[in-house]
Amino acid sequence: MEGRFKAMDAQIYTLVGRRTYLRIDLNVLDKNLSILRRQCSPQTDIIAVVKGNAYGHGSVEISRYLESRGVRHFAVATPEEGARLRQAEIKGHIQVFGNAVEEDIPILVKYRLTPTVAELNFLQEWSRTVTSAMNTRNGSQVRKRHQLVLKIDTGMSRNGCQTQDFPSLIQYCLENDLDVHSVMTHFNQGWDNPDFTKHQFNTFMSLTEPYRKHGLKLHVASSSGIAHGYGTDLDFIRFGILLYGLPPDGSVENTELVESQGLRPVLSWRARPTLIKQLPQGRVVGYDNTYMTHGKETIATFGLGFADGFSVLLSGKCVVSLEKDGVQCPVVGKVSMDAITSRLDGPRPSSTTFNIIADDFTSPNSVTQMAATLRTVTSQLTTNLAARLPRVFVSDGLIAAVTKL
Ligand SMILES: Cc1ncc(COP(=O)(O)O)c(C=O)c1O
Repeated sequence: MEGRFKAMDAQIYTLVGRRTYLRIDLNVLDKNLSILRRQCSPQTDIIAVVKGNAYGHGSVEISRYLESRGVRHFAVATPEEGARLRQAEIKGHIQVFGNAVEEDIPILVKYRLTPTVAELNFLQEWSRTVTSAMNTRNGSQVRKRHQLVLKIDTGMSRNGCQTQDFPSLIQYCLENDLDVHSVMTHFNQGWDNPDFTKHQFNTFMSLTEPYRKHGLKLHVASSSGIAHGYGTDLDFIRFGILLYGLPPDGSVENTELVESQGLRPVLSWRARPTLIKQLPQGRVVGYDNTYMTHGKETIATFGLGFADGFSVLLSGKCVVSLEKDGVQCPVVGKVSMDAITSRLDGPRPSSTTFNIIADDFTSPNSVTQMAATLRTVTSQLTTNLAARLPRVFVSDGLIAAVTKL
């Protein structure tokens, strides 16, 4: 399949076996990556955050593509997410962001995943397991394969060790010759609170300073760091949402900031109606009679719903748009599990393609504006996109990969 088919919309529906699919534009991903790389120091390495199925985009295919573009470090949330990447033969370094607990150790070691550590008891247990693995096989090779990241909590109070505990943790690693990949912290108000973020940054830098002579590598910044220039000259930068070309939420400031950098959404959601009908005035549409036709209306049904990740809360508050010319048609009636209905501007052939999600920042059906409507974060909308939705990865006008259940 790879690269053999032109990414023609009409043929894609036949290929995926459904009248709807997510279109993931790998050329846009590549461009976003280059823009973000240029904003970091040349010595700063990138950690691509591909947790949550690469924010809904498809973690295996996104990681494969990024690896082919020279990305060598990835981050996931759980050991299972990391194992999935290893099973798909992702070779790079994979850090698991979730606070490491003892039950994770077998899978971490088996799949060569790097834990994010906050506690001495985990460190002791992990080190025992790694050491016994070293004794049973080729010692130094095995040792090189197992690294850990220490995380310091500088104010988010979620993961990471308390600042006063960091010296004993790092000391334990140094004394036991454990391979510390890096030390990190995470900003919780990086987009909108420069004073607090600077305080976190300074706390982190002064705590780690005495150990830098041991060659410790550091990282603090996620996408907000890139947007506001914190930590872009340290050893690593971890970005997720900006890589996918989205602002973190629907606020005007963040959207303008992201758009002004030349970033663009990687994802759009396309569909063809599964049924189009002419209805007379006074007909109710969908569950619970939330919509009644005002006159003779053309109603299109799309075979997708909240089981695919289209929120019920968007009922009556969103549009779908014609792929060809952007004409917007309101979503009317209540969103069902497997169907939505939209009032078209008139009869249309059933082969007409619509954008359920448009790949811009301003259309009412862009991820950004949907997040504004729902007062949520953009990544919640994209991570909700279900596994049952086919994903079509397009590169240079050709289909690079397709995933479907
Ligand atoms: C520790 C850590 N680093 C980096 C990221 C990536 O954040 P963003 O998507 O804002 O770039 C996350 C995401 O939640 C995170 O938890």
